[in-house]
Amino acid sequence: MIKKDELYYPTEEFKKNAWVNDPKIYEEAGSDPVKFWEKLAKELFWFKPWKNGFLHKPPYFQWFAGGKINITSNIFERDWETRKDRTALIWEPEPVNEKPRIFTYTELLKEVCKCANYLKKMGVKKGDRVGIYLPMIPEAAVAMLACARIGAAHSVVFSAFSPDALRVRMQDTGAKVLITADGYYRGGKFIDLLKNAKDGIKETKIKKLAVVQRSGKTPWQEEKDFCKAAEMDSEDLQFILYTSGSTGKPKGCMHVCGGYTVQANWTGKWIFDFHKDDIFWCTSDLGWVTGHTYTIYSPLLNGITTLMFEGAPNFPAPDRWAQIIEKRGVTVFYTAPTAIRMFKSYGEDILKKYQFNKLRLLGSVGEPIDESAWLWYYNNVGKEKCPIVDTWWQTETGGILITSLPGMGPFKPAFTGLPFPGIKVEIKDGNLVILPPFAPGLLRGIYKNPKKYSETYWSQYGKKVYFTSDGAIIDKNGLIRIIGRVDDVIKVAGHRISTGEMEAAINGHQEISECAVIGILDEIKGEAPAVFAVYNGTRPAEEIKKEIISQIQKVIGPIALPKEVYLAADLPKTRSGKIMRRILKKLWAKEELGDLSTLANPESVDKIKKILYG
Ligand code: WT7
Repeated sequence: MIKKDELYYPTEEFKKNAWVNDPKIYEEAGSDPVKFWEKLAKELFWFKPWKNGFLHKPPYFQWFAGGKINITSNIFERDWETRKDRTALIWEPEPVNEKPRIFTYTELLKEVCKCANYLKKMGVKKGDRVGIYLPMIPEAAVAMLACARIGAAHSVVFSAFSPDALRVRMQDTGAKVLITADGYYRGGKFIDLLKNAKDGIKETKIKKLAVVQRSGKTPWQEEKDFCKAAEMDSEDLQFILYTSGSTGKPKGCMHVCGGYTVQANWTGKWIFDFHKDDIFWCTSDLGWVTGHTYTIYSPLLNGITTLMFEGAPNFPAPDRWAQIIEKRGVTVFYTAPTAIRMFKSYGEDILKKYQFNKLRLLGSVGEPIDESAWLWYYNNVGKEKCPIVDTWWQTETGGILITSLPGMGPFKPAFTGLPFPGIKVEIKDGNLVILPPFAPGLLRGIYKNPKKYSETYWSQYGKKVYFTSDGAIIDKNGLIRIIGRVDDVIKVAGHRISTGEMEAAINGHQEISECAVIGILDEIKGEAPAVFAVYNGTRPAEEIKKEIISQIQKVIGPIALPKEVYLAADLPKTRSGKIMRRILKKLWAKEELGDLSTLANPESVDKIKKILYG
């Protein structure tokens, strides 16, 4: 890249070949965003054109209403002649001796159709919800696409979530079928997923399990290998994906067929500059929105090759990812700052022997990337030639909304960049908000919970302003920097964790009367949870701490495991009984506490100091 003062720009050559390289696009899109998105939408395949570009009945809105579309027709039927023999999916298993699996578009379509026909045979109909609890194996992609093919909404649950977490989600969706697997490899161990699945579907409406064998044997092996794509209304449900918010229960974000497809297609094309020979590796698990949009839908909509890796990033050795990039000739690589910081912590030597000649573009997502991680990524992975797109978005937005485009820049370490063309954002009192017409892919609701939808996103600045729950600042170039969440969500290794959800889990322990969870600084993970639990019993502290940890493991899963657990006799509270988490955070960080006169129990502060500092 080219560096001017504190900003970076792509080279002339990169710029010349990029899909977007003329800043006029921002004016064109900004002057009439609806017209702009309609122009992009027209390049997709629609069974029937839409009547209205954008309709707004705050806090609800629609895009492309009246149109009929299927996302899989835009993957498998659009441009079919040019893409049918290209590689769609490369799958790398964790065990190094096992054979990778590779699918052309034709082969993938066959699998998708077989699975779709099998789902139909099981009684799944258009409009139904289907649970997917699968590891990172090709069948996870196949299952998602098969649901989309027949117009059923998938709801993918991250395979490392516990049976309890699976249960809550499946109860909410009302799904009758769950697609799962016998197991998978992670860090050298075989994980028995089926056991968790069977446990997790108790007390749900799930009547049938479709069990994929990790070896590749599927229950849909014998089915017919063609299935027609269902014609979906633009505003029909594409999928539900659960995410954490301020309070205990996860929220089912609803994404719809038309707008999601348009945004997934175009953000990938312009932000990752997808060209026909690209091999794209987005390292996210399919259980997260990043996996939905950028491991699966966006690259496949654009007819390029997407790569999936089953295992742990450092198994069997810290350079496993580097080996895969090199061996597969990955051209565009997209990962989270936590992974970058982890590799950085292994020292420079591990990447020295890799040239990464094919890499031309890098991406970052999920949490703020600090300047030193950015520079390490730029120097050691990008070898000073690759632009870095730091992409801001959320489960709710369906696709990327803020990032500088690779063919133009400017890029600045720790800054995510400029809003995507056609996206209007503002920073109000330090809070990042999105203005109408929002984005075609923005969520349309929280499943079965319209009240929560209105309260969470459309109440802080009125019904016409989408509240992101992120704090942000903007620099003189118009580049945006995300500071972090302003609610009770913490980002642990890029995963979104609700401290409220953790507290509810811990309070499930018989002997814990009260607790508070805060985010504390972690060099690799960015943030990590710390638990303060009230315990006044006589059992050994170590035992209680262990039980708290297993309680979290049981209700949520290993991603929410706390870095520290402190047992206290009492927690600082206001006179109305609210726990002052802010004070705990300051105590942990050894910051000035300020005025404590509003506390009902100021003596609790000294006791906690003793626990923390000895
Ligand atoms: C939250 C959303 C983005 C899809 C994966 C995570 C944080 C996301 C960035 C970024 C700083 C970021 C925000 C956001 N976040 N991307 N590039 N820079 N922060 O989706 O789990 O719904 O989390 O992740 O805090 O609100 P999610």
